[in-house]
Amino acid sequence: MARVLIVDDEPKLVTLLKSALAHRGHDVSGAGGGAEALALLPGGRFDVVLTDLRMEPVDGMAVLAGARVHSPDTAVVILTAYPEVKGAVDALQQGAFHYLTKPFNFQEVAHVVESAAAAVALARENRALHRAVVQLGGGPEIIGTCPATAALRQLIAQVAPSDATVLIRGESGTGKEVAARALHAASGRAAGPFIAVNCAAIAETLLESELFGYRQGAFTGADRDREGLFEAARGGTLLLDEIGEAGAAVQAKLLRVLEERKINRVGDPIERQVDVRVLAATNRPLETLIGAGTFREDLYYRLLVFPLDVPPLRERLDDIPLLTAHFLARLGRREAGLPAAALPRLRAHAWPGNIRELRNLVERAHILAGAGPLTVDHVQLDVGGRGRLAPGPSTLEDLDLDRNARTLITEALRRADGNKTAAAAMLGITRRAMYSRMKMLGMEAGSAE
Ligand SMILES: Nc1ncnc2c1ncn2[C@@H]1O[C@H](COP(=O)(O)OP(=O)(O)OP(=O)(O)O)[C@@H](O)[C@H]1O
Ligand SMILES: [Mg+2]
Repeated sequence: MARVLIVDDEPKLVTLLKSALAHRGHDVSGAGGGAEALALLPGGRFDVVLTDLRMEPVDGMAVLAGARVHSPDTAVVILTAYPEVKGAVDALQQGAFHYLTKPFNFQEVAHVVESAAAAVALARENRALHRAVVQLGGGPEIIGTCPATAALRQLIAQVAPSDATVLIRGESGTGKEVAARALHAASGRAAGPFIAVNCAAIAETLLESELFGYRQGAFTGADRDREGLFEAARGGTLLLDEIGEAGAAVQAKLLRVLEERKINRVGDPIERQVDVRVLAATNRPLETLIGAGTFREDLYYRLLVFPLDVPPLRERLDDIPLLTAHFLARLGRREAGLPAAALPRLRAHAWPGNIRELRNLVERAHILAGAGPLTVDHVQLDVGGRGRLAPGPSTLEDLDLDRNARTLITEALRRADGNKTAAAAMLGITRRAMYSRMKMLGMEAGSAE
């Protein structure tokens, strides 16, 4: 049995189709026009929508567009009079399942409706399977059993199915991106794309066109129309990482997306509806940025619909054995864990770099141990290596600014266990300044880690 909506401004046709399809055991509703159909679509109550193409004032193309946004699991079949075949082809390009030309016989209608319903059921089943596979492993995993971790996992499971915006907060290296991926994987959008953008790694104007796309000629170098990540992530999830680093223009546009689900590509007057779940992450308290006047308070409240706090490692010390076992397994080592003798030291450590620091420690131990057994000597905590760079014995070979900048950044990153926020703090510059310096020097600055 399929749930079918018939849309036609000719009441007689609606009645006829309704009774023919109901006769075959389908659950059929009718709408006398496009506007009525659009009002019925949200909520995904229909498997198949059968709509006339030419209607006034809201036509079948608008019904199709509405279905794609508000009920992406619904297949749309277009009904059209013979001379309008071109319109039907456009409809297919816009994602219609099939079209039927009038006059048609009921046998044909029933056949198309039933194969559309079967395709919809298959797509749904695929998505459920995909979710199951992700949960079975291979997908993003939040390792750990201590109460703080269990609570995090529970919250993710609760908020995932909704389309609510989630603000993921936590210190650097706590697993904010891992949490975001887990949330996506547990959501109804799991089969759609997951895209993460680091707002700190990209210059403001570039970030705007990355996110929203642009129209040909919008600026020098815009030699063709391009869609942005909000469009590329349709049907999926977009993670705005380090949202606190987004500039004013981007913040204003983000506010609009969150309020109206609409964007304009840069330089383009056409409004576009977006179908994206937005997640944002920050390791800086946004309240402070609001106080400093660099972050919009209204955007903050839009993001705060559902805050998700990822606890620091020092509050989940009991997870250390499981986490290290996980990292060792990923490195292909046979040991089931780090030597027990190392555990007291690991528990006493402050872990400013959180889980990333722990992962780096395990990787270092793995390299030091080589093919031999991994012993407690291979477990080396980076204690006392923090704080501002000490002047120390000068390693400056010459006065080449670039070379020395490279040395300083590399050293700061090493001391901060790859944590860029901490490294930038040691150097006394902003994270954004460090990124742009790294880019200038051709150093690897692309990834979020
Ligand atoms: N619960 C977890 N289980 C397994 N691995 C984890 C977990 N949390 C974090 N990790 C690992 O720790 C590293 C850091 O995680 P992630 O990049 O998600 O942190 P982050 O909070 O986004 O950091 P940053 O603020 O620097 O962007 C990654 O290698 C990730 O795979
Ligand atoms: Mg991150």
